[in-house]
Amino acid sequence: MEQITIKNSDLTVSRFCIGGCPMGGYDWGETRETDFIDAIHTALDLGVNFFDTADTYGLGQSERTLAKGLNGLRHEVVIQTKFGVKAQKGKPTVIDNSPAYLRQALEASLRRLETDYIDIYVVHYWDQITPPAEVVEELEKQQQAGKIRYFGISNARPDALALCKPYNGKFITSQHEFSLCCRKWEAEIHQTEKILNVTPMTWGSLGQGMLTGKYDEHSTFGENDRRRRKEYINFHGEKLKQNLKIVNTLREISKKHGQSCAATAIRFILDYLPDSIPIVGIKNSDQLKENVLSQDWHLDADEMARLNRISHSIEGDEVKEKPWKKEF
Ligand SMILES: NC(=O)c1ccc[n+]([C@@H]2O[C@H](COP(=O)([O-])OP(=O)(O)OC[C@H]3O[C@@H](n4cnc5c(N)ncnc54)[C@H](OP(=O)(O)O)[C@@H]3O)[C@@H](O)[C@H]2O)c1
Repeated sequence: MEQITIKNSDLTVSRFCIGGCPMGGYDWGETRETDFIDAIHTALDLGVNFFDTADTYGLGQSERTLAKGLNGLRHEVVIQTKFGVKAQKGKPTVIDNSPAYLRQALEASLRRLETDYIDIYVVHYWDQITPPAEVVEELEKQQQAGKIRYFGISNARPDALALCKPYNGKFITSQHEFSLCCRKWEAEIHQTEKILNVTPMTWGSLGQGMLTGKYDEHSTFGENDRRRRKEYINFHGEKLKQNLKIVNTLREISKKHGQSCAATAIRFILDYLPDSIPIVGIKNSDQLKENVLSQDWHLDADEMARLNRISHSIEGDEVKEKPWKKEF
């Protein structure tokens, strides 16, 4: 298992982080808690020690399931959870980064995770109201109180980044959507890494399952699966057709390596963003075992170029220059 030490921290983690969104058991199709618990045990056996979750995933269910799976092994892993998306049954979801809500959300996450500290506490989305100085001040207070060890940022757009510039070295991880079927936040990934000196993490690393090669134009999703909705663009219309071309290329390249499409799509991220950690959602041990085969090999320069070409040309936003060279 490849390992990486997260910048500005003493945290050494696997270069594979388990994504806890499906673990919330809500609107991701069929899921079983026993499968997740089994997968958490498999992760520890395979040397995966990094878990990403959020208070909002299944309204706390993801954190509860993670605690249940870790049962007594909490100190062997690094837990990253997020706050700020205030989702309540029957009410509209709002983003709230206020210190008062942060304190409330943190206590609730600690309770659900059955722990007295969170390794990395992440601002899920910027609320565009609370000044970053207030958020950082509160995060540092919680750090001093021992309730969080470090903190991170997620989905940082240029406006948030510009305001966060003075906090270089304070946040340790960042998260953006990135995969062969989503290249649109690439500039933000590099800018965040450069401006805040963070370790970048990618979400939707398999395009919500698209890049596993198991979906095509005939695939349908059940009522309890968000991917049936048009805003999950990877599975609908023109974008789906384009994604299937990426999957074809992925299939050819993965065969040469005796790997699956999923492992190869994750390998692409590991090689393309060499300091990064992909976050990958899994539903059971078998998916985890297959995805972990992304580790400890490389795509060659021609294969990387082919994958880059097909994903950029399809997205229609080919990168003409290295975007992270641009300054704000
Ligand atoms: N910071 C943020 O705002 C943010 C936003 C979204 C997600 N995230 C984090 O990033 C994580 C990853 O994103 P994601 O879960 O949305 O999507 P993803 O990792 O791109 O896709 C995960 C899905 O792919 C399928 N899959 C995974 N491995 C497979 C395999 N080997 N074979 C077949 N199918 C496989 C599973 O669904 P099926 O089997 O049903 O196809 C799984 O739920 C999340 O879990 C969450 O922790 C963060």
